[in-house]
Amino acid sequence: MMNEEIENNKEIPEFYRDLKEDPEEKGLWYFSFRNNPEARRKPIQTPDNKPHKIDFQWSELFSDLSKPIEIEIGSGKGSFLVEYAQKHPELSLLGSEWDKTWAVFCMDRLIKKKVLDHTQMLCGDMFYFLRDAVPSNSVDAFHMYFPDPWPKERHHKNRLLRPDFLTEVARTLKPGKRMFYWGTDHKEYNEVALETFDHFDGCSIIERNTASPTEGIMTGFEKKYRKEGRPIYRSLIVFEK
Ligand SMILES: C[S@@+](CC[C@H](N)C(=O)[O-])C[C@H]1O[C@@H](n2cnc3c(N)ncnc32)[C@H](O)[C@@H]1O
Repeated sequence: MMNEEIENNKEIPEFYRDLKEDPEEKGLWYFSFRNNPEARRKPIQTPDNKPHKIDFQWSELFSDLSKPIEIEIGSGKGSFLVEYAQKHPELSLLGSEWDKTWAVFCMDRLIKKKVLDHTQMLCGDMFYFLRDAVPSNSVDAFHMYFPDPWPKERHHKNRLLRPDFLTEVARTLKPGKRMFYWGTDHKEYNEVALETFDHFDGCSIIERNTASPTEGIMTGFEKKYRKEGRPIYRSLIVFEK
């Protein structure tokens, strides 16, 4: 069945998502299920592998389209996002959190630091937002720090740093040399991730495991883990197309 037929029949698949701004907290965007906007499904791999493209343009989020656009995946409590936003008024930044509690927490910090003019927050699963909403050749950089490691072997399939995720990253990045900033404390996930970058067409790891926190800004998890003395693996990856 074509998408239009499904919609005319009111048989909207449960995975269709729409983007809506919070009516009270301007700058907080929900990428939520059309049939059940309050539903939260953990960001795990689901059988909804039929892209349902929505009509989205960055102008919905940012007024000055001449600014480079950078995305953070899984902002947590927003420590990196807030400090990076304060340092970079010349960028348009989109933070993201699947978890609504943390998305709202980040928003409060963005409001307090008065950076909402160039920083917005997405509450939703970034993989599906990239796949179904973000236009090709429109993003300047990605930041992904301390993603959920899904340590049990049977859960590895839920890790976000997968080839199909990198396909969306590569598609949405602008042509030229574009940065992907990566960091984790999880040795095994890090090895698998770096191998995935190594095998991905057009990807080069220019700093392998020895990168410093981006512009010296540590994330919330990083501060905690460094205090505990855990090793941290940070890498810089370039996508070229
Ligand atoms: C381990 S925390 C790290 C948070 C932060 N980056 C830090 O280093 O302090 C990972 C966060 O990513 C969020 N997350 C996981 N998968 C996501 C996805 N597909 N889209 C958006 N957020 C996601 C989780 O809700 C969680 O808060």
